[in-house]
Parts: sequence; structure tokens; C-alpha cells
Amino acid sequence: MHYPSAFSPVTNKMKSSLIRELVASTKNIPDLISFAGGFPAPATFPKEELAKIFQEVVSTEGSDVLQYGASEGDSILKRELLKWEGLELDPGQMLTTVGATNGLYLYGRALIEPGDVVLCEAPTFLGTLVVFDALEADIHSIPIDDEGIRMELLQAKVEELRRANKRIKFIYVIPDFHNPGGISYSLERRRELLAYCIEQNIAIVEDNPYSRLRFSGEALPTFLRLAQQEFDGSDVVTEVVSFSKILGPGLRVAYVKGNRELITKMVSWQQKVNITPDCVSQRVVSRFLEKGLMNPHISRICDHYRPYLNQMLQQLQLNMPDSVTWTKPEGGIFLWLTLPEGMNADELFVKARDKKVSFIPGSKFYPEGQEKFNTLRLNYTFSTMEQIETGVQRLASLIK
Ligand SMILES: Cc1ncc(COP(=O)(O)O)c(C=O)c1O
Repeated sequence: MHYPSAFSPVTNKMKSSLIRELVASTKNIPDLISFAGGFPAPATFPKEELAKIFQEVVSTEGSDVLQYGASEGDSILKRELLKWEGLELDPGQMLTTVGATNGLYLYGRALIEPGDVVLCEAPTFLGTLVVFDALEADIHSIPIDDEGIRMELLQAKVEELRRANKRIKFIYVIPDFHNPGGISYSLERRRELLAYCIEQNIAIVEDNPYSRLRFSGEALPTFLRLAQQEFDGSDVVTEVVSFSKILGPGLRVAYVKGNRELITKMVSWQQKVNITPDCVSQRVVSRFLEKGLMNPHISRICDHYRPYLNQMLQQLQLNMPDSVTWTKPEGGIFLWLTLPEGMNADELFVKARDKKVSFIPGSKFYPEGQEKFNTLRLNYTFSTMEQIETGVQRLASLIK
């Protein structure tokens, strides 16, 4: 069998993750300081508590959780999640998924017909772009500023696409501690985007892996909550929440909330693709919530990360030339650096690798053909304090 000729056209066109390739290209360099990955610090995984709960769940509830489970997700987990969030929502408006990536895939699968327009921020999270790309969406990106997506550019883009008779399905946004942009939407921008999307009949999918990792400042309502509170309970928003950066990405537990009919269709896809999310992991997360461990654990993660963010901000301030700017997030795990216009972060990446420091060039976070080259993403949660100091110094001297 000659498999390549048997692959479907979309499989042949499918891209691998450039980020994984870039990270792999630096893997065997001894003493490399990496600000490239998007990994949470293993020190934040609640290993002991989870080990105990896994043991407990399998031994006392094994007959239930080792069996095939419900495609819409574990009802006990859903009950605990709704209690935790204090959200007025029917469990039928929620499903659990195998990580956020799977939830976003099911969302896209339910909505995208090849050629449909999906709007996103520029920059945006590449992992989701490749999902929508594999579903053959026509992806258009709109620049963000410090407060979120730039509304005037969004409006101009929507008008241009509608004039060309394109069908706009939805907009994909990351409102809090943006990956890779490092920004959070202001309350005003959240309201503006919601009002505009409701008026224009454009669905919003909000990807929320980071909002609970807030180290300082005031939390703002998610788009979903705002839609319920201030926009007559509009169901334009679907929110995807992941436990990857809270309990560990290996658990693969996330959940999605939104319009009941849409959720029903996503469940139907889940039935076909996964049968069910992992029943053991789901029940473990529900017991973790039930025992009241989640909020204290999240506070511990924030206490753990806060000094690393401060260290990176301080080192940037001390070392970078005036021509470089960066975001100053109050949480999350990334910073976004803007280099002087004309400087190319892809070229800088190669030079930096020789100096044993790495990052992800910003160009990797845009749809093809819409890249910007003078930006880069820095992660600060996977290095030591000393590595952050040395790594930023190395990077700054190269830029200078
Ligand atoms: C914005 C964003 N969405 C989704 C994901 C993937 O989440 P999960 O591990 O739940 O699939 C990540 C992980 O880095 C992310 O940053």
C-alpha cells in the first residue's frame, strides 16, 4: 500500500506544529535556557493530592469510572463545576472534553463548513489555528492592542469579507492573559466586542486556560458571564475552560459551556470521535473540587509563579534597550516582546540558539501570509530565577 497517495487532500495539506518543531530543534543543546515552551512548572502539579484521589476513586468508584461513560461528560463533575463557578447554567449547556484543544475541535467541527470564515486575534494561539485550518476554515486575523482586539479593524474586516460574500462563522478570542500576546481584555473592550458580535450575528468562542492564574489586580467577567449579565443572557458566546495549567496538561480535562443546541451537536461529535472523555480523570477532578482543594491550590500556583513574572519584568527593564517594548501581564505564563520595526525575530531565534537562549518568534502565531516578524513570545514559568536573569541578559545583548 502506498499510503501517501491514499491520504485525503486535507491530510496532505495539514501542517505540523511549528512551535513543537522549534522547541525540538533546541532540545539537545546543553545548558540552553528556554523561554520557548508553554509548559506549566511541574512544581505546581498537585501530585500528592491527585495520587490519593486517583487511588480513592479507582478503589471505591472503579465499577463506575472504569466503565464507558457519558459522551456529554461526567454528571458529578458537571455538578461540581457549576457549584465552583457559581454560574446559572443547566448541565445540558455544558460538556467536558479531552483538553481545550478537543473542545475547540468539536466546536469547529459542529460549525465550520470548508471555506467558512473564522476570525481570530493577531497574534493568536497556534494550536487552535491548526485545528481550524484542518477543518478547512478561511482564517482571518485582526490585530490586538493592550485592551484586546482592535474594534475598528475588526469592523473594517467584517465589512470587507461581507462585501466579498464570505460567510463569517465565529471569532476565536483569548480574553485573559493571552497566549501569546500577554494582554487581557479591558471591561470596555469586552462589552464592545460582545455588543458588536450580537449585532452582527457572529458567534464568539472564548478560550480560557489562564484567567484563574491571576497574580495581582482585579478579575474581570468572562465574555460568557458578561453576556448573561448584561446582554439579556445572549447565547452568542461559548467558553472553553481547561485544567491543563491548573492541574497538569497530562490529565486532559476541560469543559465547554454555551448554547444548548450547539452543545448537543458537539456531544454528538464527541460520541463519534472519543466516545467519552476519560472517566477516571473527570471523577478525580470532581473529587478535587468537592474536597475544596481547587481554590487553595490555585492560590499556591499564583504564589509560585508571581516571583518568576516579577523577575522577568525586572530583568527586561534592567537589560533591554529602549527600542524594545513588552507586555506587563498580571498573570498567565507569557510575555510578548516587540522589537524595533525591521528587526526579524526568526533570524534572532537562530542567533539566540547559538548563544543558548530560546523563545518563540512571533511570526509563528499568525495565519499564513498574515505574519509580523518583529515580535516574540517569552515564557517565564519553566526557568529558574538565575536562568531568567542570564537568559534575558543574553537576549538583550544580541538585540543591542
Ligand atoms: C490559549 C490556549 N488554548 C488552548 C491550549 C491547550 O489547552 P489543552 O491542554 O487543554 O488542550 C493552550 C495551551 O497552551 C492555550 O494556551
